[in-house]
Amino acid sequence: MALRKHRIEELLNITEKLNHIKDIDALLDLILYEARSFTSAEAGSIFLREGNFLKFSYVQNDALAKIDETNNKYIYSIFEIEINEHSLAGYVAKTGEPLLIPDVYQLKETSYQFNKHFDEIAHYRTKSVLTVPLITSQGTVIGVMQIINKKSKDGRLISFTKEDMRLVNFFANNASVAIERARMTREIILRMIKMTELRDPKETGNHVNRVGSYAIEIYDRWAKQKHIPEKDIRTYKDTLRIAAMLHDVGKVAVSDMILKKPGKLTPEEFRIIQAHPVYGARLFSDSVSDWDTLSAEVSLNHHEKWDGTGYPGHIKNIYTDPVQIGPGKKGEEIPISGRIVALADVYDALISRRVYKEPWDEEKVLAHIRSESSKHFDPDVVEAFFAIYDVIRAIRAKYSDEENP
Ligand SMILES: [Fe+2]
Ligand SMILES: [Fe+2]
Repeated sequence: MALRKHRIEELLNITEKLNHIKDIDALLDLILYEARSFTSAEAGSIFLREGNFLKFSYVQNDALAKIDETNNKYIYSIFEIEINEHSLAGYVAKTGEPLLIPDVYQLKETSYQFNKHFDEIAHYRTKSVLTVPLITSQGTVIGVMQIINKKSKDGRLISFTKEDMRLVNFFANNASVAIERARMTREIILRMIKMTELRDPKETGNHVNRVGSYAIEIYDRWAKQKHIPEKDIRTYKDTLRIAAMLHDVGKVAVSDMILKKPGKLTPEEFRIIQAHPVYGARLFSDSVSDWDTLSAEVSLNHHEKWDGTGYPGHIKNIYTDPVQIGPGKKGEEIPISGRIVALADVYDALISRRVYKEPWDEEKVLAHIRSESSKHFDPDVVEAFFAIYDVIRAIRAKYSDEENP
């Protein structure tokens, strides 16, 4: 009984942590991580509801992480399940009841069957599964969480318990409230980006979703290489994604006569475009949160270059008008957020189709990035980018501009 009380207290502490997360993906990551640690589960995934479907939204798998450094790519898998009684997740979403199954390959007389799709692509064997609905306080099912393969202290696969089910279900209800809030934040961000898109058609929702995801994945790799503690990496990624998505919102302050001008810009027009990082920094300058601070930092630094030939350079006062473009910042004078988003943004611009250009060949893009290491880009960032290139590709597929990815 004392043990049970202790576990409930632990759960309440975890729930409190969820309220400090802003970004939806960072939140799903934390929810899964905590639910898994709490029940000693090796893997898990979250599906969020869209209409009558459950969209695969997040996954973690410790066993795969050990053998495949780019296993984060599975986070960006795209598949969906119809909400009906034929699948585990669909059944749980439909009925709102949790399900506890000791071995999903041994299901016989049930309406639902286990979908082996993920096991097959990842070469994994799912055994025990606990599936709980994500239900808001209004009683709406917004998704489903599955946690997979509970392990005993000595590493054997065992079944989840009824108590695991009750506690995880309780946790999932609290998590749902946080998920709804974070989803709303993401929508507001995307609306800000739509405003930028009206000015500059290059800044589309897909482009910024890709840049945000590339940025956090490159950062993750870079930070692990630098032995930054896991907890700090998580916190930083929470703000970095949003900040990276907003890298070009400063363009709302540049006239579309200039942004949409066909042909060559006059030197004066070019100077105005070069001021967009500073305009962006102004938008976030009365900093009320670490999110504003980082968004201002990314905006101000995403056109700097490692060798000092970028812009706008050192700006004494971001409010001085007209903006004085100075000598570029060099090397580590450029904050890491700016060094990462610079690469993410350029990579995406080159490899995507844009109104004025065809996509470059992948080979050509990669050769270009390699040749710009230590010139345009921080060599360590370039190295991190290539180390996780499979993940980069998965992100591109998930947020593809083409009709049928
Ligand atoms: Fe920009
Ligand atoms: Fe961009």
